[in-house]
Amino acid sequence: MRYHQAVVVGGGLAGLRAAVALNQRNIKVAVISKVHPIRSHSNSAQGGINAPLGNHPRGCVDSPERHAFDTIKGSDYLADQDAVMRLTKDAAKRIIELEHWGCPFSRTIDGKIAQRPFGGAGFPRTCYAADRTGKYILHTLWEQIIKYIHSSERENMTVYDEWFVTSIVVKDGVCHGVIAMDLDTGELEEFKADAVIFATGGSGRVYKNTTNSLISTGLGVAIPFREGIPLKDMEFIQFHPTTLYGNNILMTEGCRGEGGYLLNNKGERFLANYDDSRKAMEVAPRDIIARNMMREILAGRGFEDAYLHLDLRHLGAEKINTRLPGIRELAINFVNVDPIDEPIPVQPGMHYTMGGIDTNINCETIVKGFYAAGECACVSVHGANRLGGNSLLETVVFGTIAGESAADYILEESPSSSEAALKEKLGQQKIVLMNYLDHNGEENHAKIKEELGTVMKDKVGIFRKKEKMEEALEEVRKLKERYKDIKIIDKGKRMNFDLIWAMELGGNLEVAEVITMGALKREESRGSHYRLDFPERDDKNWLKHTVAFSTPEGVKLEYKDVTLGFYEPRERKY
Ligand code: FUM
Repeated sequence: MRYHQAVVVGGGLAGLRAAVALNQRNIKVAVISKVHPIRSHSNSAQGGINAPLGNHPRGCVDSPERHAFDTIKGSDYLADQDAVMRLTKDAAKRIIELEHWGCPFSRTIDGKIAQRPFGGAGFPRTCYAADRTGKYILHTLWEQIIKYIHSSERENMTVYDEWFVTSIVVKDGVCHGVIAMDLDTGELEEFKADAVIFATGGSGRVYKNTTNSLISTGLGVAIPFREGIPLKDMEFIQFHPTTLYGNNILMTEGCRGEGGYLLNNKGERFLANYDDSRKAMEVAPRDIIARNMMREILAGRGFEDAYLHLDLRHLGAEKINTRLPGIRELAINFVNVDPIDEPIPVQPGMHYTMGGIDTNINCETIVKGFYAAGECACVSVHGANRLGGNSLLETVVFGTIAGESAADYILEESPSSSEAALKEKLGQQKIVLMNYLDHNGEENHAKIKEELGTVMKDKVGIFRKKEKMEEALEEVRKLKERYKDIKIIDKGKRMNFDLIWAMELGGNLEVAEVITMGALKREESRGSHYRLDFPERDDKNWLKHTVAFSTPEGVKLEYKDVTLGFYEPRERKY
């Protein structure tokens, strides 16, 4: 049995920042990640990270309060306002810290961190490093981790990469550690820990049309859900307006922040024809632009009834090459379009899970010693719609908070984990694994995954309606039944990705059911959740969080109040 005072599951930005925070308090920490940390999905974050620095030469006065207001308004008033205030208050501190650790942010002419306009602010608030912001921050944090790994005084940091967590161990309302598989050997092991932080990222691969990497399956939220920890606001799925037609690779909002246009098949900047995007145009919030793009496509003003054009040509080669080099490379490599000469074919695609593991402002869950941060968590700072640039910010602000909360718990309460509970869970997990490998069923898990993604895309997508979602729920439940009869063809132990993808699919299916149930129940339109049959926001009945529990009788939904207190909910006009 391995022992670390704290275990962080997930090697992306939130996980690494949490590990640094723990190490700063001299806690012995292990990071467990199913891929090498620098291959985590944070790597593909492009456009930027928000902070009210007010650095842009256009001279905007910015403040944490103004940033908080924009975030709350963007969330369609579903965000918890105390959490948002914490996010925006800590933003500058976290960015400057990254700068001091060597993050190569792009610069203004006078050497300050450059900022570009993103949706919801109305002026440049998004700090960036060309269009590879996530990659650069991830590498910066990874350097900090390496520093701790090699620090002779501390020796407090261990990274287990290519280890796959299958379960957390919870007994009597307390977390005692995790069970994880070494992918190299296929062996399961117990990790005893006084505190566990989940930072496992989003659930994008529940949908077929997503910007998320293959590893963002949702298993990271399904694992605690199975142990009784509720999921919050899972019905709120963000569709990013500009994903590459054909494979849904992200074409950053930075393209529009830098001045790119969205055009229909008549060559019109069609956003001017819609009340909610007329003023902010290409930098209106994502939910609004994604819906208006779909309206254009459905009205026959798209290309091949499927996509629109993102036109960067007027920005010129120099700007494209310095500010958006990654976009140019992706468009050339994947669709053979050079944005200097031609518009990029784009369509909205699933991008972000606003909901997640229900936590309070300190990243604590209902289980003592179990914390969550980043996209897998719902604090909630994004409510019904996240502003672009607030996701990277959330990872570093709440990653830090999760690490500090866990450190306080370990140092103040000296918890002692139960080895018996870990051994018992290990035994159970070995049986689960054996059952996967021994069951020679009729079903192919890759096919089930494909069907699931299509159902979610077609029936629980940008525009939602009761009848379609009822069909989706029935289909998801049938897929869950079929999943019980899958066959793993590879019976080996080492690097058995047939088995791993099958296990991941279990998480996909559970998350899909929670998303669909929450969406079906919520009879209003708010942020990313747009009901054709209930097109208005309904604060009287629905200004509340959905909280889903896994029970022996199936998923149960409850509701809880949104924390207000700073800004009264108003009509969301742009
Ligand atoms: O468009 C983008 O670069 C994505 C940013 C975000 O999701 O925050």
